[in-house]
Amino acid sequence: VLAVLTIVLALVTLGLVVVAVVLRAGRRRQGGPTAAQRRVVTGTATGLCLVLGLGVPVLILADNSESKIKDGPGAIDLTSSEAHGRMLFKRNCATCHTLGTSLSAGRVGPNLDRLRPPAALVVNAITYGRARGRGQMPAGLLAGQDARDVAAYVSRVAGQGD
Ligand code: HEC
Repeated sequence: VLAVLTIVLALVTLGLVVVAVVLRAGRRRQGGPTAAQRRVVTGTATGLCLVLGLGVPVLILADNSESKIKDGPGAIDLTSSEAHGRMLFKRNCATCHTLGTSLSAGRVGPNLDRLRPPAALVVNAITYGRARGRGQMPAGLLAGQDARDVAAYVSRVAGQGD
């Protein structure tokens, strides 16, 4: 999306430059642009500034929404339930677990990028908790669809964040 937009904006800018050059050439020949011509140029320039100043940041923000993890080759597009899981992971799991795509570096529990747990193991860990190893993970942090969403997210992205 952004690549296309950049090309469109480049073409629009080029078009404006051409218009400005033509107007300046006209001024040299006929002694200055008419008030109407000046209004057109000023109006277009203002419009372009608005489009660039507001449109581009808005598009970038929209593009960086929760459901996109990174752009370009190897981008991970999350389903809405995985995106929901990502949000829940930040709130409920990130303090204890490392997971690159969530930019979390918790060290209480195992590194999920290395463990790469299947969804069923994640749901099991959330439901029953874990207290056999070095630390403890409380049972029932999440339940039902929330637990399944987090599990879908973790099993989808574990090991893929750099
Ligand atoms: C209070 C810290 C803490 C929180 C919060 C926490 N965990 Fe854990 N988690 C642990 C610890 C500690 C272990 C390892 C316990 C053990 O080995 O007995 C663990 C283990 C796991 C395992 C591996 C289970 C296995 O059998 O190998 C998974 C998967 C996991 N957690 C996922 C999650 C998810 C998803 C969340 C968020 C819903 C979460 N954890 C929240 C501390 C935490």
